[in-house]
Amino acid sequence: MDSSQKLKPFSTNVFFLVVLFSTNFLTFLFSSSLYSSCSITPSTTHVAAVDDPVSDNVINSQTTTDLPTEFISFTSPQLLPFGFTTNFDSDSIIAPVGHPCTFFANDLSRYMSYRVNGSCPDDELFAQKLLLKGCEPLPRRRCRPTTPNEYQEPYPLPASLWSTPPDSSVVWTAYTCKNYSCLINRKRNQKGFDDCKDCFDLEGTERYRWIGSKSGHNELDFTIDEVLEMKKRGTVRIGLDIGGGAGTFAVRMLERNITIVTTSMNLNGPFNSFIASRGVVPLYISISQRLPFFDNTLDIVHSMHVLSNWIPNTLLHFLLFDIYRVLRPGGLFWLDHFFCMDEQMEEVYKPLIESVGFKKLKWVVGKKLDRGPKLREMYLSALLEKPLRNHG
Ligand SMILES: *[C@@H]1O[C@H](CO)[C@@H](O)[C@H](O)[C@H]1NC(C)=O
Ligand SMILES: *[C@@H]1O[C@H](CO)[C@@H](O)[C@H](O)[C@H]1NC(C)=O
Ligand SMILES: *[C@@H]1O[C@H](CO)[C@@H](O)[C@H](O)[C@H]1NC(C)=O
Repeated sequence: MDSSQKLKPFSTNVFFLVVLFSTNFLTFLFSSSLYSSCSITPSTTHVAAVDDPVSDNVINSQTTTDLPTEFISFTSPQLLPFGFTTNFDSDSIIAPVGHPCTFFANDLSRYMSYRVNGSCPDDELFAQKLLLKGCEPLPRRRCRPTTPNEYQEPYPLPASLWSTPPDSSVVWTAYTCKNYSCLINRKRNQKGFDDCKDCFDLEGTERYRWIGSKSGHNELDFTIDEVLEMKKRGTVRIGLDIGGGAGTFAVRMLERNITIVTTSMNLNGPFNSFIASRGVVPLYISISQRLPFFDNTLDIVHSMHVLSNWIPNTLLHFLLFDIYRVLRPGGLFWLDHFFCMDEQMEEVYKPLIESVGFKKLKWVVGKKLDRGPKLREMYLSALLEKPLRNHG
């Protein structure tokens, strides 16, 4: 789609990396001279330039790159006001983003062009594309994001869990639909395949997910209650739903006093706003991002539809290990309707998933027919448990 970005002159990128590197190197030189007794103390200029959050930066004035001023301000090492700390093992702090963003220099310039202390441009769709191709997390900006014109406070709990939020709670610029009734009617009006076409209709399919009350029980559809029964009552308390669409999994879990954070992008719909309006926590990270949880902490990780054969195998392998990492020993990974081509299941995905080291509690493979039988697609629903002790 945006192939122009891929063809950026490599020399430009290399130059940025050199700039970023020399920035760090300068800091190193200056900060070591701070501690040296024979220092001629040129460090004061450096400190003023880097330390002051709103001054123009010394690095910028020395170079004539395309890198936007705000990006340089954000990514330059900042000296800590109280000096060296053993917690960091450093006297400065570097923003943990940047390098991948410089591969998309034009987009980055556009993203970082705004009036400091003013309003941000209304650029959600553009920003999400930049994020999804690898500039994640996006750099911070010193501007105020667009807000809805006549924002209304959310409905109170518990009514908010199953209510369509007011249209005025969303900035609609990035989406084809401009109100919730359009999103709800999408499953009837919109042609073509879209995984989450009916997600916004809280009176439709969403109502019946994971509670097993819809007729035609399918082996692939585990219910929340049968999954929770696998563990001692009350020991599944906190967790994560990866690519959780409208947030219904988190809502169903909240009804059982379980706290779930839902990751979602806003792919042609205001998923994050919708999840938040319902009263559960949205987390705006893609599947590329290292999960922002510490090792061995979560009781459950669930994921439906998003983990599938569109993900490059190596990325998927890293991701599965990351899920293993954040789950506590005895924690559950509910891989819900993973899909791929028939022959890929045995050849690729079964060994790939098995290599991570989970214990299989349930493993159900079935045909996926919603796009027709000739695509020979398969579903896998699995309930996996992180063992109490690692093996190997
Ligand atoms: C933004 O606010 C800071 C803090 O008050 C100020 O120092 C800076 O000059 C302002 N920048 C612009 C461009 O208005
Ligand atoms: C919602 O948007 C559609 C077009 O996307 C429009 O036809 C309809 O009138 C709008 N409905 C409301 C309630 O604003
Ligand atoms: C959830 O917690 C509340 C308050 O502790 C309690 O009254 C309620 O019975 C719990 N609900 C479930 C389904 O456990």
